Amino acid sequence: MSFCVALDGPAAAGKGTIGREVARRFGFAHLDTGLLYRAVGARMLDGMDPVEAARALRREDLDRDDLRSAEAAQAASKVAAIAEVRAALVDFQRAFARRAGGAVLDGRDIGTVICPDAEVKLFVTASDEVRAERRYLELAAAGHDVTRQAVMEDLRQRDRRDSERSTAPLKPAGDARVLDTSDLSIEVAVARAVDLIAKRYCK
Ligand code: DC
Repeated sequence: MSFCVALDGPAAAGKGTIGREVARRFGFAHLDTGLLYRAVGARMLDGMDPVEAARALRREDLDRDDLRSAEAAQAASKVAAIAEVRAALVDFQRAFARRAGGAVLDGRDIGTVICPDAEVKLFVTASDEVRAERRYLELAAAGHDVTRQAVMEDLRQRDRRDSERSTAPLKPAGDARVLDTSDLSIEVAVARAVDLIAKRYCK
């Protein structure tokens, strides 16, 4: 049986942590779809044509250790605005969403384009300040040399580009539940998401 949880929202709103934890609790597979775009973006930074890179994307491209950098994030947001890049990644994501045993996908267009019939759709968001602080602490802890100001600028630029592009822009699906995590601890945010999913999954 398949069961798809679509988690969308802007950068650093908590989708990744919620996705991993929800997947663990329900025994679902988890796909961080941002990693696909980061891998294509990284290959573009290597000099490859992004459309070709998306069409030729391999499992091992997702294991590069530079995908979490701010440069890879910006490159991801740029290649993600190219319709042919998005088209090349659709089939893999749709197959993942409908795999037996359930799946959680986090991204920007999961509830709107990849899996419009997802059993649960959540749009996870938080204020710019909270998201920037969380991402700053994450990057600093991982040893990246960043400032709060630069992180805020990166998030704002990417959110603007991701929301304003014509193909699959970042926006909540009409039937998504909005989960604002600005004032929530990660434990409470996860508990809210788990409650919402449990109501649908246990029926
Ligand atoms: O989730 P993330 O920050 O790792 O994503 C990096 C970029 O990839 C993001 O700025 C926009 C793009 N992206 C997208 O367009 N669609 C998705 N489903 C996931 C990510």
